[in-house]
Amino acid sequence: MSLTLTRDVLLKERTTLRLGGPVLAEAVVSCEAGLDELARALPGLGGQPLALGAGSNILAGDGPHALVLVRAASGSRADATPEVSTQTEGSAGKTILVRAGAGLRLPRLLGFCQHAGLTGLEGLTGVPGSVGGGVAMNAGSYGVELGALLTRVRVWTPEGGLVWRKAEDCAFGYRHFNPELTAGFWLVWEAEFALRAEAPFAVRSRMEAAYAKKKATQPVTARSAGCVFKNPAGTSAGRLLDEAGVKGKRLGGMAFSTLHANFLVNEGNGTAAEALELLEYGRARVFDRFGLDLETEVKVLP
Ligand code: EPU
Repeated sequence: MSLTLTRDVLLKERTTLRLGGPVLAEAVVSCEAGLDELARALPGLGGQPLALGAGSNILAGDGPHALVLVRAASGSRADATPEVSTQTEGSAGKTILVRAGAGLRLPRLLGFCQHAGLTGLEGLTGVPGSVGGGVAMNAGSYGVELGALLTRVRVWTPEGGLVWRKAEDCAFGYRHFNPELTAGFWLVWEAEFALRAEAPFAVRSRMEAAYAKKKATQPVTARSAGCVFKNPAGTSAGRLLDEAGVKGKRLGGMAFSTLHANFLVNEGNGTAAEALELLEYGRARVFDRFGLDLETEVKVLP
């Protein structure tokens, strides 16, 4: 099957925060032919399409959502490996181009880089997203942003089908990416990154160091959606929330992490209503204390 349509899907089953009510349908596209089928199916499904990767940056409301989840399963098979080619550049030396499907999980891409001896992505160790979601939000950690390594991206739109966009034709910002193709729906299908050859043991030790640091300072194994607020220029939202006394604050089954104040965690039976109330509580505490209005980083689906 190149397109699999499912009804009765709950966002809480598709998001790392484990929150969210039912959607109209979920469309999983496993090959290019499925994208044509998707273009034909979308108008009949109603609601708005929402591109969903690993669901690791989403806070979805408890009620029903007039949404069709669209998931690119390109590269998601257990045996999928990124495609590698070499480009020789003048003085900059050798660049290794790595092409990966949107459905490939970032941890698997990093594992591949470790074994193949490719450097560049180590800072993203412990980031749970997919290649597609990571590109679509320009995921970053420890000084590495996916957008900075992207050479080109293959994007699908219902009107135009699949097109390769050069990175220089796309817009990038802090946790922001736009292929600048359409004001409507777009889906990352495949991405190409420029990495460099490096001894596998060196890549591995940098990944281990990044993971150890992350594990000591962030609740990496908890049910969370990563940082919920953007960092204001020059400071850390986590530090501001911590200093405003928000760290560890709980409501029902939701809490601000005791390890890093910018993470909301679902302790098992939390609800989106509780999460949203805590989010506003944290924002208000920081505003009262520092006069700074924190901007939400997690994507909220009301
Ligand atoms: N801090 C506190 N209390 C806290 C949390 C942090 O005092 O509860 C202090 C730390 O001690 C440190 C400073 O704040 O001095 C910065 O903390 P950290 O290194 O954890 O980085 P961050 O600015 O809080 C950002 C990103 C993270 C990313 C890390 C590492 C944002 C909103 N957050 O966090 O990204 O993993 O840097 O690069 O940009 C995410 O995108 O979801 C995310 C978690």
